[in-house]
Amino acid sequence: MRKLAVWVGLVLLLAGCRPIVGPPSVAPSSAATAGLPGVGDPIFPLLGNTGYDVQHYTLDLTVDAARNLLKGTATLRSEATQPLAAFNLDLLGMNVSAVTIADAPALFARSGQELTITPTAPLDAGAIFTTVVAYDGTPTPLADPELAFIKQGWNNRDGTIFVVSEPGGAMTWYPVNNHPTDKATYTFRITVDEPNVVAANGVLRAEIDLGAQRTYVWEMAQPMASYLATVAIGDFVRIETPGPDGVVIRHYFPPEDVDALTRAFANTGEMVTFYSELVDDYPFDEYGVVMMPFSLGFALETQTLSVFGPEMAMEGVNAHELAHQWFGDAVTLDAWDETWLNEGFATYLQRLWLENELGGDFLDKGMRQYYENLTVFKTPPPGAVEEATLFSEAVYERGAWVLHALRLKIGDDLFWQFLRTYYARFKDGVVSTEDFIATANEVSGDDLTDFLNAWIYDETMPPIPE
Ligand code: TRP
Ligand code: ZN
Repeated sequence: MRKLAVWVGLVLLLAGCRPIVGPPSVAPSSAATAGLPGVGDPIFPLLGNTGYDVQHYTLDLTVDAARNLLKGTATLRSEATQPLAAFNLDLLGMNVSAVTIADAPALFARSGQELTITPTAPLDAGAIFTTVVAYDGTPTPLADPELAFIKQGWNNRDGTIFVVSEPGGAMTWYPVNNHPTDKATYTFRITVDEPNVVAANGVLRAEIDLGAQRTYVWEMAQPMASYLATVAIGDFVRIETPGPDGVVIRHYFPPEDVDALTRAFANTGEMVTFYSELVDDYPFDEYGVVMMPFSLGFALETQTLSVFGPEMAMEGVNAHELAHQWFGDAVTLDAWDETWLNEGFATYLQRLWLENELGGDFLDKGMRQYYENLTVFKTPPPGAVEEATLFSEAVYERGAWVLHALRLKIGDDLFWQFLRTYYARFKDGVVSTEDFIATANEVSGDDLTDFLNAWIYDETMPPIPE
């Protein structure tokens, strides 16, 4: 039998194909297989990869902002989650010059957004291993015709660089396991020509003066999804104020607008207090926005440092991106057809802050007005959206209505308890709509499955609970 197995294996090997019927018994290491090139996301099947889990990224990059050139290394500390003969990272564009694993040169191949890496010897399940990718080039942001409002990833406008990656743009500027299901911590070491300033996620740990250049070392110590990783390079002034409970509030503003923007964002510390009391302590060490000197038409909740266009410098938008730090960033959707888990929560919490400011029944009144509009315009349901509707009214407004309906149904006390339980349970991780429903059932002590499914998936909105 054994002889036969070896013989069959040899024939298959010579024929250039791999056996498809279970692992051959020749050598133990041959049980190692390649990780898959995608995690099976329902909308973006090639985002992320299987077979390993990244723990930490160190991005050591020198950036020529004027010429938009990036050169450096990405060092990934990962754990193999299976015996691993090869695995993929996601990287779109850029030139890869070398890859090592545990300091040994590794084979690599590229195809579209897939960078396939083959270590000299297979990795054991559970092994912690370090991959270093040396690369360079001009990043090209991702233009997705279905999400036409933004080019995802690394953008350069007149020498000012900003990174807005949701959902897939992270792979335009570093090799990454590009799906929210693999969160990791980050160190950014970004070297630029003077007098450029670099802001990134987390805490500024060091500035190293190299004469004509300067290295900025930023540390993101809590797990982060790749679409939330950001770097801004340009002419910015850091405005720092102590916030509540030791949370530092630091904004990066264009120098000419510092006074007006300091006023526009003056409430940020109070907002942190408000959401901390409503939900739980702010999940990270610092918070602020980085304001672009040109209009963008959007803001993005990049972890600890939201990217803003000046036309978004409004109370409601500031509250929205801050609320995302709890819901979206600390607790993150586990698949891209569930953006309502990010946007519905941020939209609802944004209105809770505004109601706190304005008083009265601002929130309930506004929600009922939206209910009328959503009914008249036959807005589709927030659950199971498609690529073109990832960031549509269905997700924001009908998404917020899922929460308001739940609150009307179970009452304020249970609703706040639900919000805190859900947050505590999924903080630093990812969450699905099923998890959301299970938590609501558990906290309320009621079976709300049909009720919530109707709000999330039915074409027409259910009647407002009495
Ligand atoms: N999440 C953003 C918000 O609602 C919207 C958004 C989605 C976005 N994808 C983006 C913004 C890409 C900028 C770039 O707050
Ligand atoms: Zn949002």
